Amino acid sequence: MAHIRLENIRKVYDRQVEAVRDIAFEVERGEFVVLVGPSGCGKSTVLRIIAGLESITEGALYIDGRAMERVPPRDRDVAMVFQNQVLYPHMSVFDNMAFGLKLRGYGKEAMQRRVREAAELLGVEAILDRKPEQLSGGQRQRVAVGRAIVRKPRIFLFDEPLASLDAGLRGKMRAELSKLHARLGTTMIYVTHDQIEAMTMGDRIVVLDKGRIQQIDTPGALYRRPANRFVAGFIGNPPMNFIEGRLVGGTGGGPAFEAKGGTLRIPLAESRHAPAASRIGQAVTLGIRPEDIRPPTDTPPESPVCEADFLLDAVEYMGREALLRVRTGAQDVRVRIAAQALPPANHTVRLALDLNALYFFDRRTGARLHPG
Ligand SMILES: Nc1ncnc2c1ncn2[C@@H]1O[C@H](COP(=O)(O)OP(=O)(O)OP(=O)(O)O)[C@@H](O)[C@H]1O
Ligand SMILES: [Mg+2]
Repeated sequence: MAHIRLENIRKVYDRQVEAVRDIAFEVERGEFVVLVGPSGCGKSTVLRIIAGLESITEGALYIDGRAMERVPPRDRDVAMVFQNQVLYPHMSVFDNMAFGLKLRGYGKEAMQRRVREAAELLGVEAILDRKPEQLSGGQRQRVAVGRAIVRKPRIFLFDEPLASLDAGLRGKMRAELSKLHARLGTTMIYVTHDQIEAMTMGDRIVVLDKGRIQQIDTPGALYRRPANRFVAGFIGNPPMNFIEGRLVGGTGGGPAFEAKGGTLRIPLAESRHAPAASRIGQAVTLGIRPEDIRPPTDTPPESPVCEADFLLDAVEYMGREALLRVRTGAQDVRVRIAAQALPPANHTVRLALDLNALYFFDRRTGARLHPG
């Protein structure tokens, strides 16, 4: 188990491509931290820097308090698993897993014990004699993880290790890796572009976009208190709706949000929406998640809502639930509802927006308007 600290790390490739900047976070001993973000945001760069496979342009990296600047990868006691981990094709599963130990001069008995332990943990005891070509994709990834485990490193780094697997197997392996973390207690950093993977596995999540950290938080906090529009739109599936409009006030009641080009007008409560209400006259973006818009009849009696009419474009039936694609003016909104009594398309539907579930974002910077 190890503690990791990144101090304002900046990485420039080839003297001109700035891959990441101002990367600062800590990973506690035994913690499972996920780095998540869209393709090209710098996830692999950060991971490779920790492993020692990339140099740091500016900033510093510490593992257990020790600066890593001059420590080569093999002396960092870090194991990394990649997306398409290449196994040695001519070696058996056993030999693939034992290879790293052999290089480090382990004796035969110790090697066998460690490989058997890891194989049992990963459920690959029965295939130790096979060659990689005789394995399924999931089995191959398990062996790749096994090869990392046998070394008992103080840190595991995973770079999209499940990306090439189909959805079902990915879900299963996800659960297995979480269990593995619980059993080994090793510090782990896991990179993925899949927000569901991040939400289900991470103790904490570091959200990256365009080489910068957007937010670091627990899954629950990212979902309930996103720092900005990027995080709000990235975490959650289907994603949060964003409706452009402006804050109006004064005449005829208190402050309200008025959607652009539509009839949607949401009165704001001073207590609940104070930071937004102080921006009367400004253009803002309203955010609301698809599950926080419901048919008025499905609304819990105690929750404050605002009812409004929307034009229903399409209904996507998904079994227990349905996704409605509706519009206010020219702005599309998605609504997730229980799939009973679905309304017909191309009609007006009345829906209730949960006033406790509104988010407001600065139109220009994307920052969320109400803190906390
Ligand atoms: N060796 C390199 N030389 C030059 N530019 C690079 C190099 N490696 C990465 N980059 C650039 O740095 C940025 C970050 O790349 P990185 O591989 O860290 O992204 P990523 O988040 O892992 O993306 P993906 O999800 O596609 O794997 C990208 O713009 C990429 O093109
Ligand atoms: Mg990558």
